[in-house]
Amino acid sequence: MVISVKNICCIGAGYVGGPTMTMMANKCPSLIFNVVDINQERIESWNNEDLSKLPIFEPGLDVLIAKTRNKNLFFSTGIQKAIESADIIFISVNTPTKKKGLGAGKSSDLKWVEASAREVARFAKGHTIVVEKSTLPVRTAEVIQTILNSVKKDSAKDLKSFSVLSNPEFLSEGTAIKDLENPDRILIGGDNKEAMQALSCIYKSWVPENRILFTNIWSSELAKLTSNAFLAQRISSINSISAICEVTGADVREVSRAMGRDSRIGSKFLDSGPGFGGSCFKKDILNLVYLAEYFGLVEVAKFWESVIDINKWHQSRITKIVVKTLFGTISQKKIIILGFAFKANTNDTRESAAIKICKDLIEEGAELVIHDPRVSSLQIADDLQMKPNSKLNQELEKTINIKSGNWRFSKNLDIFENAHAVLVLTEWEEYQNINWSLVAKQMVKPSWVFDARSIVNAEEVREVGINLWRLGDGNKKEAINKF
Ligand code: NAD
Ligand code: UGA
Repeated sequence: MVISVKNICCIGAGYVGGPTMTMMANKCPSLIFNVVDINQERIESWNNEDLSKLPIFEPGLDVLIAKTRNKNLFFSTGIQKAIESADIIFISVNTPTKKKGLGAGKSSDLKWVEASAREVARFAKGHTIVVEKSTLPVRTAEVIQTILNSVKKDSAKDLKSFSVLSNPEFLSEGTAIKDLENPDRILIGGDNKEAMQALSCIYKSWVPENRILFTNIWSSELAKLTSNAFLAQRISSINSISAICEVTGADVREVSRAMGRDSRIGSKFLDSGPGFGGSCFKKDILNLVYLAEYFGLVEVAKFWESVIDINKWHQSRITKIVVKTLFGTISQKKIIILGFAFKANTNDTRESAAIKICKDLIEEGAELVIHDPRVSSLQIADDLQMKPNSKLNQELEKTINIKSGNWRFSKNLDIFENAHAVLVLTEWEEYQNINWSLVAKQMVKPSWVFDARSIVNAEEVREVGINLWRLGDGNKKEAINKF
């Protein structure tokens, strides 16, 4: 039986649901895409006439939205209506790590997935293909199927039926449009061949058939978790090597380049940085750890947990280096933070290394000026749990006469006057074009640039008399002295 598809619904208008449906709507003009969300404000932003006010910043997204929005792509809070008319429903809601209860701190909180499944069970009509787009623990499809089946049984007259598929998303933020346009693979897991074919037909509109992989549903769920775990593991590996480079006189950029030439290793994901961030790496590894522990695979759990441990250690290592270099104290010293997003080309700050590093620097008494071209001051205040220009602990300050640090936000880069140091945390392109000769005249001497992203022009910085610390850059003399 060939399943005919006309109407698509996506529950969740976030970093995945929004761009994914926008790409599909562009590639499949004869299909109707309804993207729905409980967050009215987010939906209003998706519908904003001013395309610079979309809720997420993603290069190229605005152009595609302009082509499809209100033609065959609709953003609304009309969840019931969208589900009723849908032939295929993507569940693309958030799945953060559980904060309390059984599995807290490791397993995913599935309450939003469960709520979506219940809405689908209630409002769907006829046969509906339900697709897990969110990243989910292995065997979640079973939970979804159980919820869908239970409602089906309650209303015997209602001729509802469901096929549940797994179709994880592999896009990266900042390059989402490119990734969606030209994916390495599309993964479809399930056991209903007709449903899998129907879903694959959407992708076949632009993705070569040999890139569409079919697996059983559990393999698909696990392949998504392990893909993220492997990528994060590479970053923890190279970041751990950066520390070895610093004490041995090696240069992590050279080590990466040499390793990456081995075709078995490959050159991607070998850039050492301030530690991986983003909403998914940590959460997905924790999920894997939980799964391993649940099945008594203690060593497996420990192995994957160490990827997160190194990441945390690495972030605090950067703070310590800054403090140590600035003569052991940063109290009341102005430090410029370049970049707050967890990577360039996104406004997303979830799990950004900048959060922990900035909090620790403020705790040490620093006066931070934070710049990011896409992240708002409000978002930073939310992440740091501290308003700009406020004192960390006024009571403590009064009683023991110690100045606590603070922060303020700047939209422009006219911020270097009287700064002791600059710390680069996000690889925004504009940080490559800073006029260091001008900056050197404005900073307090000795001035320092700490480049955790290896993007500043090292020669220029050194030439104008600024001290430069780069991640994984071994100072030969110091290193040799240590041997
Ligand atoms: P997000 O928080 O940006 O978006 C999720 C949206 O779902 C929110 O807008 C929320 O309001 C909405 N929502 C929650 N419950 C709902 C309900 N019952 N009905 C309607 N809407 C509801 O999350 P995201 O970054 O888009 O991630 C979604 C999923 O995709 C996660 O499982 C994540 O692991 C996975 N993923 C994310 C990325 C990424 O780059 N962010 C990439 C691949 C996979
Ligand atoms: C990651 C994966 O790359 C996607 O395939 C996946 O779909 C997504 O997670 C998800 O499931 O959410 P994303 O987190 O958006 O995508 O961005 P990445 O490019 O993977 O970067 C993650 C973090 O690692 C960033 O903080 C980035 O700066 C850091 N990173 C990345 C490095 O430090 N070095 C590198 O070489 C690469």
